Amino acid sequence: MLKKIVGAALMSMAMPVMAAENIKDLPNPEINTGMPLMEAIAKRKTGREFSAKKIEDQDLSNILFAAWGVSHDDKRTIPTARNLQKMNVYAVFDEGIWLYDAKENNLAKVGEAKDVIPFIAKQDFVLQAPLTLIFTAVPDDKGYAQMHAGSAYQNVGLYCAAKGLNNVVRGMIDFDEIGKVLGLKDEKVIITQTIGWPYM
Ligand SMILES: Cc1cc2nc3c(=O)[nH]c(=O)nc-3n(C[C@H](O)[C@H](O)[C@H](O)COP(=O)(O)O)c2cc1C
Repeated sequence: MLKKIVGAALMSMAMPVMAAENIKDLPNPEINTGMPLMEAIAKRKTGREFSAKKIEDQDLSNILFAAWGVSHDDKRTIPTARNLQKMNVYAVFDEGIWLYDAKENNLAKVGEAKDVIPFIAKQDFVLQAPLTLIFTAVPDDKGYAQMHAGSAYQNVGLYCAAKGLNNVVRGMIDFDEIGKVLGLKDEKVIITQTIGWPYM
């Protein structure tokens, strides 16, 4: 009996630690940052050079908010067909694969980066970059899934332009293998986007 009670007590102590390790809370996204919109639009471009500089949590939160945050009336920073909000955004960084929960403003660790990197890093510069986003959705016959991912990567591209970050949208990836690593069932990988700081 005592063994059971001690066991249960240990488990209840251990569980929150386990959960905390797998959940990464993000700082609130900053709304008053960046540059004038038209300047960011003019500056948006692909950059394929990445220094080792880490992306701090504040930028990570801002990037994810730009891509897929909840901004108004329980809706997103991008428009979605019939407001169904059918997309998921994963972030590969710091040796983990993390699923973004916009409502909770956190990330849940769902895998190890080393398992997915061979399938996203078909171009060498990806190995240097600190962050890759993976957009996933259930494909549909109207192409809405691609439209949503495109809206999200454009928002991220504008954020990067405003902050001096480099980014490149990347379709040169192994879609099926990434899907397997993520454990996708009905969803498919739509596109990826690699982000990081240029050499200063
Ligand atoms: C859907 C899509 C897929 C892309 N895939 C790749 C890719 O796999 N590798 C790459 O280096 N660039 C990729 N790009 C970046 C394009 O090459 C780039 O956007 C294009 O050359 C125009 O340059 P800009 O973004 O600076 O205007 C992709 C862009 C889009 C929109």
